[in-house]
This record gives sequence, structure tokens and C-alpha cells, in this order.
Amino acid sequence: MARKRSDFCAGLALAALLASGLTASAQTADQAWLRYSGNHGGTIIPLKARALGRGLLEQSAAQELQRGIAGLTGASSYLADSAINGETIVGTAKEAHQSYPELVIPADLGPEGYWLNWTHYHGEALLIVAGGDERGVLYGAFALLRFLATGQDLTSLNLRDHPALSIRWVDDWDNPDGSIERGYAGRSIFFEGGNVRPDLAPVAEYARLLASVGINGCNVNNVNAEPQLLDSGHIKQLARIADAMRPWGVHLAMSVAIASPQKIGGLSTYDPLDPAVRAWWTAKANEIYTLIPDFAGFTVKADSEGQLGPSSYGRTPADAANTLAAALAPHGGIVLYRAFVYNHHLDWRDPKADRARAAYDIFHPLDGKFAPNVVVQTKEGPIDFQAREPVSPLFAGLPRTNKAMEIEVTQEYTGQQRHLVYLAPMWKQVLDFDLRADGGSTPVKQIVAGTALGGMVAVAGVGRDAWLGSPLALANLYAFGRLAWNPNLAADEIAAEWARQTIGNDPEVVRAVVKMLMQSWPAYENYTGPLGTQTLTDILGSHYGPGIKSSENNGWGQWHRADRAGIGMDRTVATGTGYAGQYPPAVAKLYESLESCPDELLLFFHHVPYTYRLHSGKTVIQHIYDSHYEGAAQAAEFVTEWAALKGRIDGKLYEDVRARLEYQAGHAIVWRDAIVQYFLKLSGIPDEHSRAGRYPGRLEAEDARLTGYKIIDITPREDASGGKAVSCDEERSQNAKQRSCAAEWSYSGPSGRFNIAVQYFDLADGAAQFTLKVNGQAAAAWSADANLPSKRPDGDNSTRRTVRSVQLKPGDVLRIEGTPDKDDPAALDYIEITPAA
Ligand code: GCU
Repeated sequence: MARKRSDFCAGLALAALLASGLTASAQTADQAWLRYSGNHGGTIIPLKARALGRGLLEQSAAQELQRGIAGLTGASSYLADSAINGETIVGTAKEAHQSYPELVIPADLGPEGYWLNWTHYHGEALLIVAGGDERGVLYGAFALLRFLATGQDLTSLNLRDHPALSIRWVDDWDNPDGSIERGYAGRSIFFEGGNVRPDLAPVAEYARLLASVGINGCNVNNVNAEPQLLDSGHIKQLARIADAMRPWGVHLAMSVAIASPQKIGGLSTYDPLDPAVRAWWTAKANEIYTLIPDFAGFTVKADSEGQLGPSSYGRTPADAANTLAAALAPHGGIVLYRAFVYNHHLDWRDPKADRARAAYDIFHPLDGKFAPNVVVQTKEGPIDFQAREPVSPLFAGLPRTNKAMEIEVTQEYTGQQRHLVYLAPMWKQVLDFDLRADGGSTPVKQIVAGTALGGMVAVAGVGRDAWLGSPLALANLYAFGRLAWNPNLAADEIAAEWARQTIGNDPEVVRAVVKMLMQSWPAYENYTGPLGTQTLTDILGSHYGPGIKSSENNGWGQWHRADRAGIGMDRTVATGTGYAGQYPPAVAKLYESLESCPDELLLFFHHVPYTYRLHSGKTVIQHIYDSHYEGAAQAAEFVTEWAALKGRIDGKLYEDVRARLEYQAGHAIVWRDAIVQYFLKLSGIPDEHSRAGRYPGRLEAEDARLTGYKIIDITPREDASGGKAVSCDEERSQNAKQRSCAAEWSYSGPSGRFNIAVQYFDLADGAAQFTLKVNGQAAAAWSADANLPSKRPDGDNSTRRTVRSVQLKPGDVLRIEGTPDKDDPAALDYIEITPAA
């Protein structure tokens, strides 16, 4: 007999005790979605969980169930509570069949697949978690816990599932020194000071988190690989990481530099066809497998962004990949060879030059030439994880090659975790995109799954700061795992699943969080780079704040080619770079023609005048203005939507996210104003709604009465209102004691209550202090202590602080006092006064 819900209340205190013991380590998986805190919503489950076999993964599965059931039901399966009848058992289908010969247990679950079934055995409830193999057992256990945590009825459970793709990896771009390339969550959990860290407890917890969503591989070092990691000493250290992840079925992989045989092997060459080079890789693979028998394989970045590669010897990527593949093949290892190969010294004046073409031009001719254990890993779009790109045509260009799609969880070009951007809707568009490869329907997800080794790989960027820094950003890691397992899941369904496990099962909370997540990518695209212009960020530096011109006049090929007359890259076959012709005919035709090209990608494929009318009926320039105002308004709306959750969710989480959303709303205005200002100046075409270039209530710092502050030019000029700001820099250098500077305005508007937004530059090196005074009385004081990119005042660090509901009357004196600290000169852009609601 199943127990009633009320029975579960017993043992609550013990469960809490157990849970606290389990979370003693500093960085744990329950800081993400594996919280297992009593929000089961009335679901019943046999409390006792046990493994049928002795395998490592089965033990993990059984322990995880014990832990999860105890946490979620508020009772403990460790207790032989006489009131509890029945049990939850985990084992391979074979073991289950041996233990319960009378029951019909599917024998064809397949690798990594599982079957969950609620039945009765000798009059007692029996919940079976059977796996096609041990890994399937583990994934089945986590699936069961997900159902329990999201409050689903388990009593009629009869479900089998298996992953769509066999390669489901994260790439962590960690460097041996402990830094993380494009990581926004602190330092590495794997490395420090050139070595693997002594404490790998967080690594084990990370593997647990990954396993819970079915991720089965982790590539632990930067694709810009340090060759030393392949030396014998480091391989021994890496084996410790593999040991830490093994109980969770997460296999270790590593990035390798193609030049390693020369850099650390003492050979005079790294030519992949040289017998000595081949022998070196074979010996290296043998050495690795001696210490790490389940090593997953190598990831390769070569001939790209300064990484050496086979082109040094006139060899192809297939030559290099196959040499590595031959070394790994006897051990069952694979090579993920990245198609991110391009020339970053393109001639930007050449209208035919196009970085987007590179992957297809280089890899398509090699189709069929790769060894069976090579997988070509292609970024989802042809450029580099922009706010929007078309799908890479290479997915249709390698029918005889194993393929993996690379996506980015770490939000390099999408707000670096400081902005809420839930990326699953973007990934879904890519996975569902019909490339019409053979004239018939061939969605990308089907193409990727269609080869012997298909995969999805996410650049994760986890660090020691709460895994991804921002709590809501973890929805992206979760969504990646779920989509790699089942690309047919819907983005909002995944968001709801994640929210229920992470934040709570309160329907109002779930509804609000899902709504915000789903609106976040469109909002970000709107206030950064709409119409396929890419992110319009500073591509030469941080990839964070606005930097519209940074992509032009250089060889990196992220061009949008905006000039006085028009904007967009002509990638048509007829008059442009020919990139559109890399797609199968139906898709090529769609993008080639201005009439059929969707608005959202128009400027990726076409160069048009600003007055060109979109399908929406708007001109391009008006769309640029409108989308930026809409995007920034949406970001402001997130703050309001989140505020409605106060008191309904964990207080710490509420406050953490509230502060982040408030910041994002301010930075969205920086983006909006920069882009609108830039295109207004460049095109000379006014905004139909008269917003561009007009900022009622804004008082510029450069127009204030200044004491100590000096007027400075901001570069690029659109990153500051009016292109100028004031800086307390000289005061700082001349006065060891760091006197304050001040900017003062006399208020001349009507009497009433107002919000005063202060736009200042928060530099990372130092915590400048700001005070807002009204008639000499402090209305607010704060410290500019955020850690934002760029070492000088610009759009990366322009930050807004809104002081609400301040009483003002004509003649009042508003004063900002800024006190520099270290390299932060308390720079100030403007204040803006708007009526309080
Ligand atoms: C981007 C990113 C680099 C990274 C590269 C890659 O260009 O900015 O940091 O090395 O992608 O994917 O190899």
C-alpha cells in the first residue's frame, strides 16, 4: 500500500538533519537544481530505495534516490518505518529480471536508456528503475527524482526513455592557472597555479549535477590548450579529476594542441602525417588510458585564432583528426575536431571576403574522409555565438561525417550572466530549423542525431562562484542537458521543470519565472543587435557592452557594414559573398531573396538602405529605434515581475536576482542609448516617435557646476550620453587622501516626487563612493564596487543607480559627490529625473 501524504510529515527533522550534513561542502549541486527540499506537491513514492547490483553507478543512483526521497518527502528511507510498505529498486534490466522473474521487464532499453514502472509485488508497491545499462540506471533514478520534485503522480508510471544523442558533453575552457576563458563565475573548480586542485569535492558535485540531466562527458580545459597538460605529471593529476567524476558516469576529455609533439614531445615537427608524430600521439594515448581507462577523448582547436594546426604542413583537418583518432581508437576514445577554423586576418575591404563561409569551405570537401571515431564539432551559427545567427550550413554539408553541435551556456556574447538571457528558445530554433538537406524535411536535430556518433556540446564556463555566478543562468546549463537528451522538448517546458526544482512548485512562481525566462532572449536581442546584425558589442575586447564600430575595419570578419546609406552584409550569391549558396537549395533560395529573407536575419544576408521596409511594414532604421526601446522596457519589466515574487520564494534568492535585474535594466538603457545614438548620427534619419536623441529629465554631468571633476571624452562616444562624462581622475592622482569631486545642478521642473537615476561608471579596480544630495541632505550613498569589464569608463561599466521617490521643488540643488578609489575615478555620465509612479 502506498502511504498517504500526511505520513510523510513524520521524519521531517531527521531529513533536515541529513540534508544539512550533505551540504557541508562549500560548493554543492543543491545550490543549483538538485535541492530536494520538501516541495513534492503530494506525490507518493516508496521510501526505501535499494540497488540490485554492486556497480558504481548503481550505488550512486541508489544513494541519490535515498537522499532525494528523504529531502523531497520529508521522511527518511534509512528508517525501517513499519508504516512503509514497498520499495524503489534500481538495477539494470537484466538484474531486475533476475530479481523479479515473474515481472515483464523490457530487455531492449538500449545504451543509457531506462524504464520507470510502478507496480506491485507480493502485495506491496514496487517502483522499478531499470536501465539498459548502468548509466541508464543512473539517468532513470534522476528522472524519477525530477518527477518527484516537480510533483508528478508516480503511481501510474510506466515510461521508457533514451537519449537522442550519444555525445552529451560540456566543455569547460579552464586554464591550468585557474582562470577560465569566457568564464563569468569566478575561478576554476579544476585547476589552480598550474596544477589540478587538491580539493576536487566541487568537481564531484559538478559531475553529479551534470549526470542529473544526462550529460556524459566533460572536457576540462580550454580549447586554446596548454600543451603541458599532456605531460606525464599532469596526466596523473587529470586522472584524479576522472576519479572524482566517475561515480556519476561523466567521462573526462581534454583539449589538445596539435603542436604538442613539438612543444612538449621534443620532436622537430607536428606534421600529423609524419610517422614520428603519429607514434608520439599513440604513445600519449596509451599513457592516458593506463591511468584513465574510461578517458573520453580529445577536443581539437587548430588553425584558428592563433592555434597552430595541420595547415602548417599543407595537411587538412581530416589528416590531423585521423592521426589523433588512430591513437585513441584501440581504447574506444573519440576526437571532437572543431569546425571553428577561419582566417582572422581577412581583408575587410574585399566585398567577397566572409568569415561565415569558412567552416563550410574548409570542411565540406572533407566529408567522408574522417575516421569513424572523429566527430566534427560545429558551432550552431557560422560566426560565434551571437545574439542571433542563422544555423550553420555545415550541418547539411557533412552527410558522411559524425557531427556535434556546439552551443554556449556561458553567456559570452549574451550578457555574461549579468543579464538574464535564457538561451533554450534560441537553441530550439536551431535544433528545429529545417535545412531541407535532401529536398525533404531534415531538421538540424535529426541531422545531428543521424550519424553513428551525434552530439551536443556546451561551453559551460562553470566556476567557483555558485557554478555560473547568477542563479537564473543555471537554467541554461539545465536546458542544455535536457535538450541534448531530448531535442524535442519545448523551451518553456524545460524552464518550468527547472523552476519547479530550483525555486519552488508554487504555480504563480513557476508561471512568472517561465514568463521571464522566455522573454529574456528576445529582449536581449532587441536591445543589442536586432535584424541579424549580431550582438553589436565590443568584439575586440570584453564582448560585453556596446561597441558598434569595433567589428568594422579589421580582419575578424564580424562585419555589419553599417555606413551612412545602409547596413548589413551582402551574403547573397548574386551580388555578395555567396554564403547563402552554402545552404541546400530551398534554404539558399529563402535567404537569397530580399522578399523571402526573414526580418530577423535580414541584415545578416543583405545590405539595405535604412529606409528599406521590412515585412513588418517598418523601415530598418525605425525598427532599430523601436526594438531598442522595446527591449529596454522589457528589461525594466523584469524588475517589476520579479518584485511580485517577494515573500513567495527564498529571501536570499529573491534579493540576489532582484539586484541583478535592476542592474540589467540600467545596462539595457546604456545599450539602447548607445545604439540609437550611433545610428541616428550615422543615418541622419529621425525617430518617428521622437525618442532618439531626446532625453527629457536628463541632466548631463558635463553641463553641471563641477568641483574637482574634469570633463572627459568617452570612447566610443555613443557609450556615454552626449559622448562625454566627468571624471575625478586628477583629484585622485594629486591627492593621496583622495578628495571628493562634485557635480551640481539646480532643479527647474515642477514640484513633486521623482525618481533620480544616476548614471556612473563602475570600474573594477577600486570601489569609488557616490553620494546624492538634495539641498545638502544625503538622499542616497553607495559604493561602486562591481566587477565589470574594461579598465576605463565606457559602455562595459556604465551603471545606473535609481534613487526612488525623492521630493523636489524648483530651485532645489542636486549634487553628486564622487570619491575615487584606487583606479576607479568615480566617473559620472548624467542624472535623470522622472516622475515617481
Ligand atoms: C570565441 C571566444 C574565444 C574562444 C573561441 C573558440 O572567439 O571569444 O575566447 O577561444 O570563440 O570558440 O575557440
